[in-house]
Amino acid sequence: MKNNPCEIVLFTSDAEFAARWIEELTPLAEHDTDAPIALAFTHANEKALEPALARGAVQILVVDDAGFSEDGLVATLMRVRRHRAEIDCVLLTGADEASGEGFECVISRGESNYGVVYRTLRRILLERIATPFADALREYVYAARDSWHTPGHSSGDSLSTSPWIADFYRFMGEHIFNTDLSVSVKMLDSLMDPISVIRQAQQLTAKAFGAHQSYFVTNGTSTSNKIVLQHLLRSGDRVIVDRNCHKSVHHAMIMSGAIPVYLESAVNQHYGIYGPVPQREIFTAIDANPGARLLVLTSCTYDGLRYDLRPIIDYAHEAGLCVLIDEAWYAHGRFHPELRPTALECGADFVTQSTHKILSAFSQASMIHVGDFSWQSARSDEASAVREASEVFDAAGFREDINMHTSTSPQYGMIASLDVARKQMSIEGYQVLDRTLGFAGEIRQFVDENTVFRSLNAEDLCGPELAQDGIRLDPTKVTIDVGCAGVSAPNAQAKLFTDFGIQVEKNTHNTLSFLVTIGTTESKVLRLKQALRRLSDDARTARVRAVTTSHRDEELVRGQDLPDLSAIVALPRTAYFARGEKLVWDGRGRTELLGRVACDEVVPYPPGIPLLVPGQEITAEILDAIIAFTTERTDLEMHGLRRVEGTPALRVLTESEAAGAKAEYQELFTSKNTAPSQDSVAAPVGQSREVV
Ligand SMILES: Cc1ncc(COP(=O)(O)O)c(C=O)c1O
Repeated sequence: MKNNPCEIVLFTSDAEFAARWIEELTPLAEHDTDAPIALAFTHANEKALEPALARGAVQILVVDDAGFSEDGLVATLMRVRRHRAEIDCVLLTGADEASGEGFECVISRGESNYGVVYRTLRRILLERIATPFADALREYVYAARDSWHTPGHSSGDSLSTSPWIADFYRFMGEHIFNTDLSVSVKMLDSLMDPISVIRQAQQLTAKAFGAHQSYFVTNGTSTSNKIVLQHLLRSGDRVIVDRNCHKSVHHAMIMSGAIPVYLESAVNQHYGIYGPVPQREIFTAIDANPGARLLVLTSCTYDGLRYDLRPIIDYAHEAGLCVLIDEAWYAHGRFHPELRPTALECGADFVTQSTHKILSAFSQASMIHVGDFSWQSARSDEASAVREASEVFDAAGFREDINMHTSTSPQYGMIASLDVARKQMSIEGYQVLDRTLGFAGEIRQFVDENTVFRSLNAEDLCGPELAQDGIRLDPTKVTIDVGCAGVSAPNAQAKLFTDFGIQVEKNTHNTLSFLVTIGTTESKVLRLKQALRRLSDDARTARVRAVTTSHRDEELVRGQDLPDLSAIVALPRTAYFARGEKLVWDGRGRTELLGRVACDEVVPYPPGIPLLVPGQEITAEILDAIIAFTTERTDLEMHGLRRVEGTPALRVLTESEAAGAKAEYQELFTSKNTAPSQDSVAAPVGQSREVV
């Protein structure tokens, strides 16, 4: 009996035909001892289609077009795609000619050679389960060639033969070292100029994720974001961007010299969480900045809140803006109907994903997906110049931008893990996510029914500002309110770690966030429930104690108010590259800092949302927040602080630098806020445009 059953469903109303089809194909599968997969053939009629698609083992749907009009066929395909984007669809037709658009291939209903039918279906599946790069890597390792090239450890031999560090070699395992190779090994292709196995792996990735093109990146989405922004922005270009986007987006703006137009997120002060940006604010900013080049949003956020992206992306496109959606936390979205639509499915032009955060890839493994730019073709069409996506997207320029940020010595194991993570999602993504969503639901239900805590839903996290915006919550990000039971979340987090060996993803002052992933197991869920019950019992006892000693619960969970973030008054690039001066905030420094312009990004981490970005004016509220974060939240890191003789300080523009930088900013802001010409809209993405 072979492992890995793959079900192939024939969707037809002709039961007699289906019976013959199954009868002919089943023995061929049984006798195919060479196949690494076991093909099983079944039949579904109209009523049974959705139940069939809910079976994880279904990998191919063969659609019999008998009785379908052209439109009916398209509608059926859409119906299938709504449930399962990743499976292959094959058209079975009695017609002499069929366009087969949207189908993997076409098979004639009259085909009497079932051997050919079987091999065609088998080939489709084998292509999907292939991992060209990972396979080549494994093959190379087993070929046991002598290494006369980098890296210097030479397949781990410098470690395994050392009396001092052989223990590390044994601990890490031999394959960590013998898969650590270099670009000298030609059969492993090149990440910077992929022509064989990496290229094939990226093509399979694009198909699985529904992209026009996909690229592997080995330095995280931090780098993926920088690549995309570098590609799209030129000095002085205006970019409409969520102020609370990841720091890498801010870094990219420093590097490009672009002018950010910041969108303020909705803030949930009660839980200390920044949410998405209200839709009307996005539309207003697009209307107010007719010359803008790009819109950048994060969806979903760290807390799992995701936008209703379609109307936003359509609005941006109509105004001529490209759209980058940071899906660092949403690489799984494509593979389960409960999580869709993804940003690409909503029309995004560029999507960046931290494959490593959610799927089975090593840390730092990330992907950039590129959309089809059909909106640009349509706009060009209006200007009577029909353009294909390949003309609109400057692939050669994008390759240059990727290469500028790519190490010439990438980690081959990481590339292989991207290949394997794609295979997994393409073949069993639906199944593993179904299990994951089940676990997430189980944890929420347990918390709500068995503890004094509360699991939070989208409405709890968003607040009224976002009520009409169709914001949804990724159920795999489970946020639990422990403050409602008088428990301080940092204390609970520490207790979970020390007493129960459980490391949470993050916490605020009153919430704990758990990331339920495709690696979550029943045992982990069991232990988490046990720990939460114990914390809950302790909280009940503490409550009784608090009442008798008149200790107020709120004191235990008093949070840090998230400040309103002030405007920028200088170009981030100018502020960052200025020499500046460092001012401490104790004594006289505090008053001196007010009204000054920040040179650095100052970011409490987690969650990594900057309190200050370069060019931002320092207000009393922000300074108070920085001081409070550094003195009261010792559990957080604070990036971007400087020191003067050991005392924390901020780097700010000198008075004279500030005067020059503010004047430059004013001048740029007014001169660049004009609508792009039709020509500039249709210019290939990534090429320099003249925005007059
Ligand atoms: C929204 C967002 N974008 C990008 C990143 C960077 O991703 P990576 O850690 O893969 O570099 C993060 C990391 O936390 C993030 O939260």
